[in-house]
Amino acid sequence: MPLLIKNARIITSTEDYAADVYCSGEAIDRIEKNIDPRSVGSAEVIDATGKYLFPGFIDPHVHVYLPFMGTYAKDTWDSASRAALVGGTTTLIEMICPGKNDEPRDAFNTWLAKAQGAASCDYTFHMGVTRFDPSAEKQFREIVQRGITSFKVFLAYKGALGVDDRELFHTLRLARELGVVVTAHCENETLVAELQSQLLAQGKTGPEWHEPSRPPRVEAEGVHHLMTFAELTGAEVYVVHTSCDEAVNEALRAVSRGVRAHIEVVLPHLILDKSFAEKPGFEGAKYVMSPPLRDRHQADRLWNHLRSRAVATVGTDHAPFDFESQKIMGKPPASDFTRIPNGIPSVENRVDLLYTHGVCTGRIDLHTFVDCASTRAARIFGLKGKGAIAVGADADLVVYDPHHRGRISAKTHQMATDYSAFEGWEIKGRASVVTVRGQVMARDGKFVGKPGAGRLVTRS
Ligand code: URP
Ligand code: ZN
Ligand code: ZN
Repeated sequence: MPLLIKNARIITSTEDYAADVYCSGEAIDRIEKNIDPRSVGSAEVIDATGKYLFPGFIDPHVHVYLPFMGTYAKDTWDSASRAALVGGTTTLIEMICPGKNDEPRDAFNTWLAKAQGAASCDYTFHMGVTRFDPSAEKQFREIVQRGITSFKVFLAYKGALGVDDRELFHTLRLARELGVVVTAHCENETLVAELQSQLLAQGKTGPEWHEPSRPPRVEAEGVHHLMTFAELTGAEVYVVHTSCDEAVNEALRAVSRGVRAHIEVVLPHLILDKSFAEKPGFEGAKYVMSPPLRDRHQADRLWNHLRSRAVATVGTDHAPFDFESQKIMGKPPASDFTRIPNGIPSVENRVDLLYTHGVCTGRIDLHTFVDCASTRAARIFGLKGKGAIAVGADADLVVYDPHHRGRISAKTHQMATDYSAFEGWEIKGRASVVTVRGQVMARDGKFVGKPGAGRLVTRS
């Protein structure tokens, strides 16, 4: 049904103005002052008085189907996309993470099949490069032809997903030739492995030792390494989940040398700190992710880099594992923090917690909020029609109520995990209407759309 959104305060990454928005189909048709409902026939009229109208939010870093650390992430595309939509996110970019011996083409088809017909929001992928040889290269070329115009490499997870330097060099060279962006998890995997062994040998086995096994220098070294390779190949790179000032500064130094680099931070690093992973009784396992949660002062630095827009995007790195059946893998008798599946479920909470802890506290303004949570990801990753409110753009819209007050709980969330890392936390705002290409998909915390209506996004 056509939609007419009346009395909206439209906020984009650069503008703030009052207008009505009309869409008869999948795209925005009109943005004008006082559109008369009688002039548009039988549209559903949504009154946005006192609310913001934002472009649909984009999460550039999620894991949904993820075979990892001896288990599988808990969400399906059905649960993850409902969670995203209820939380105001209308497009997800998932990492395809093939095993080292898997064929890239098979991995792409597997990941696509999991999303197709099950995703209720729109989606695309970063193609994981976990092996680079002539046969893999041929397949990467085909995958890029099919519209997947970004790669993902891991300079971490030794022996599992990580690439060696020769593979990194050739991946970046291919990316440069094809004009695709390479996203990268940057931690020096050898240092991580050695520090892990050292700590375990000293009997330091609990979740609180995860952070000391991957300190800021280890991450900064990873970023420095990537930047050297990017500089010498001319590839455009995007550092995912940058958790500390040391790592951000390595990327910024490279930018000043002319490297085309973008910096992503993820929600957990902005609002949590390492004291959560130090909670007693193995509770800390809920907060084990990589790079790890850092010392409190690091979050302040990340907010500053976000405010100055040195940091381009805020994603989640949504990687959902249950506490009772999965995080527990590192508990006695194993007693080994390196066996705790890494990741924090958060795709549902990103927009509300970024608004609550970023906009409501004055750390970032509304335009930066829209830019880092939507518009910039659309630009960097070539998501046509996304991240904007403009005539002709996709009608992916979020009517946002800044007066809503609520609390997060695993009892009410849409994500499939048995816990929330933000249990009981207050949110000061919520999406009251969420549309994807003109269809209403969520209202006031509830999924109301057609399941499986999401589409693979066309990318340039
Ligand atoms: O802890 C994390 N980040 N888990 C998911 C895999 C990754 O490194 O992105
Ligand atoms: Zn990662
Ligand atoms: Zn990730």
